[in-house]
Amino acid sequence: MKFDQPAQENPIDRQKVVSQPHDRIDGPLKTTGTAHYAYEWHDEAPDAAIGFVVGSAIAKGQITGMELEAARKAPGVLAVVTAENAGKLGKGEKNTATLLGGPEIEHYHQAIAVVVAETFEQARAAAALVKVHYSRERGDYDLAEQKPSVTTPPEGTPDKNVGDVDSAFAAAAVQLDAIYTTPDQSHMAMEPHASMAVWEGDKLTVWTSNQMIDWCRTDLALTLNMPKENIRVRSPYIGGGFGGKLFLRSDALLAALGARAAKRPVKIALPRPFIPNNTTHRPATLQHIRIGTDNDGRITAISHESWSGNLPGGEPETAVQQTELLYAGANRHTGLRLAELDLPEGNAMRAPGEAPGLMALEIAIDEIAIKAGVDPVEFRILNDTQVDPANPERPFSRRQLVECLRTGAEKFGWDKRNATPAQVRDGRWLVGMGVAAGFRNNLTTKSGARVHLDAQGVVTVDTDMTDIGTGSYTIIAQTAAEMLGVPLDKVVVRLGDSDFPISSGSGGQWGANSSTAGVYAACVLLRETVAKKLGFDPQQADFVDGQIRAGDRSASLADAAADGTITVEDSIEFGDLAEKYQQSTFAGHFVEVGVDVATGEVRLRRMLAVCAAGRILNPKTARSQVIGAMTMGAGAALMEELAVDSRLGYFVNHDLAAYEVPVHADIPEQTVIFLDDTDPISSPMKAKGVGELGLCGVGAAIANAVFNATGVRVRDYPLTLDKLLKGLPEQV
Ligand code: MOS
Repeated sequence: MKFDQPAQENPIDRQKVVSQPHDRIDGPLKTTGTAHYAYEWHDEAPDAAIGFVVGSAIAKGQITGMELEAARKAPGVLAVVTAENAGKLGKGEKNTATLLGGPEIEHYHQAIAVVVAETFEQARAAAALVKVHYSRERGDYDLAEQKPSVTTPPEGTPDKNVGDVDSAFAAAAVQLDAIYTTPDQSHMAMEPHASMAVWEGDKLTVWTSNQMIDWCRTDLALTLNMPKENIRVRSPYIGGGFGGKLFLRSDALLAALGARAAKRPVKIALPRPFIPNNTTHRPATLQHIRIGTDNDGRITAISHESWSGNLPGGEPETAVQQTELLYAGANRHTGLRLAELDLPEGNAMRAPGEAPGLMALEIAIDEIAIKAGVDPVEFRILNDTQVDPANPERPFSRRQLVECLRTGAEKFGWDKRNATPAQVRDGRWLVGMGVAAGFRNNLTTKSGARVHLDAQGVVTVDTDMTDIGTGSYTIIAQTAAEMLGVPLDKVVVRLGDSDFPISSGSGGQWGANSSTAGVYAACVLLRETVAKKLGFDPQQADFVDGQIRAGDRSASLADAAADGTITVEDSIEFGDLAEKYQQSTFAGHFVEVGVDVATGEVRLRRMLAVCAAGRILNPKTARSQVIGAMTMGAGAALMEELAVDSRLGYFVNHDLAAYEVPVHADIPEQTVIFLDDTDPISSPMKAKGVGELGLCGVGAAIANAVFNATGVRVRDYPLTLDKLLKGLPEQV
């Protein structure tokens, strides 16, 4: 089905099942431990051996020799695979560094060998016996140090200019010119990257934990130099991804190579302390923002440049993209700068670009609003735009930022905020409120599904879509139930298998809208097939209560499959509506904090998110996405930071003991409000995505609340107490 015209009224609009707060249909499997994660397919390969990965101990240079004999002779060892004996390997489209390195080393903890043994303990013990000799080279690891030498945009991402930002800024009545920094961050999904590989002749099956089944399969084929058709990838349950599992990573490749060498199924789970340096991370940014306004607080100039680093061939963190679209202003400049660093590979993490971009921009907006003497909520409303500021012919499909902010201000009690910082006390706590806008683009991408109807009237949906903890199973079931007029318990959803039609997968918050739209398309075809088979006019037929009806005729849906299961397949393909309209999601984030006047400890007291994110397909799972994202935003604001050893080139705090993330005790009352944002431009579902929007802006709202509480402006995340202490008011 081609989607190139605004959606008409359709069965989803009934919202009898869709948009209802159904519990997750996979919930009982998860709470009873019967949903198998990547490392748990014991019954599929009871004889699986275990692989333990050896990572490079240097960040840059060459391996000059490997002593493998001791490991090979160690108890239980079945194989030791290195780049030297693995056979010729290709490289995946989505991989920047080589997944099995050597002799060239591109980053610290790059995998350089896998030791396969009967047990985990044997594999780990033998891996410790591998002796590697290196010739270490000096690398570049410090973004701030590299910044002065990086003055032009990387190829493919030119600067965007509208008007003359420098003159407008120079002439502006009110000016802000500041630098903001965000640190490297790690996804830290609960489930580690894990895979099990099974060969049958030249056919490979990999059980893994991956957000994008077809990307994983494509890159496995490219890396192993084998036909894609001979590879099956299965990833039905995923314990969190956040972008860290978008790509083929070393666990899956090395499980396949280890299994081939050992002639046995092989399982690998990357140990937690290995993940931050071996896999991808969100790159640190250094952002220079200039904003000029007139005397009333109207933006006349806005300029945002962001520096980030990556390995040679890697991409920049696109931290300026929201600045192109979020506020009005006649003179504009945005640009990305990319420094070559020899740190591990930087790549997507939840709301790549916007999340760190808004951490900076939305502090800057707070600062300029205060300078201009305009309330920060009103400042954002004053500078709203309903069109792409660089192209006024191009409207937003829907844009309710103003409503998000107004609703939030009212519900949060923004009018009780004291605009003068450091005035409100509650015992030892300095109390403040902060606000930030949330913005995340809505991406749409082709997505396919197969649906079956059997003689019991059960509808089964097959698609390679993934559920990374988000609720995909449930919203897909709701979509099929709505389309075919059956209750939710008459729908079976099967996901995460490359034998199923290729879907959007889970990434960029596109999964909910695109994958359900693909299921919608397949269900439209199933409705037509069923109607014709039972002699109904497909245009007239209605599907409700397990029946197909037209006029005063009705038949049971199951009757259509009485002589055999009906199976149809279709996909949704998006036309040019994304070019004609800017499609984005919006939020207003409001936070109240207390800051200990003596120690500078920050405690969150209340958080509110008001979101306009398309039709909400399931308010319960959507709320879970947003409160999870708000929690992640709290981590980004106050705790999360990969510490770079800029001499040796690695992330030092590469485990959950030293990389701090929020725990329950850190999180206060969280309220989420969804505005009605049914958007006929986005898809037949009229939905968008919310999983990343929930994070966008949260960090800045917290930083702005800390400023309101203390009068201390911190522009370097995370806001640890050492950055607050010296600015706290004198105690009397
Ligand atoms: Mo998202 S960072 O594209 O999983």
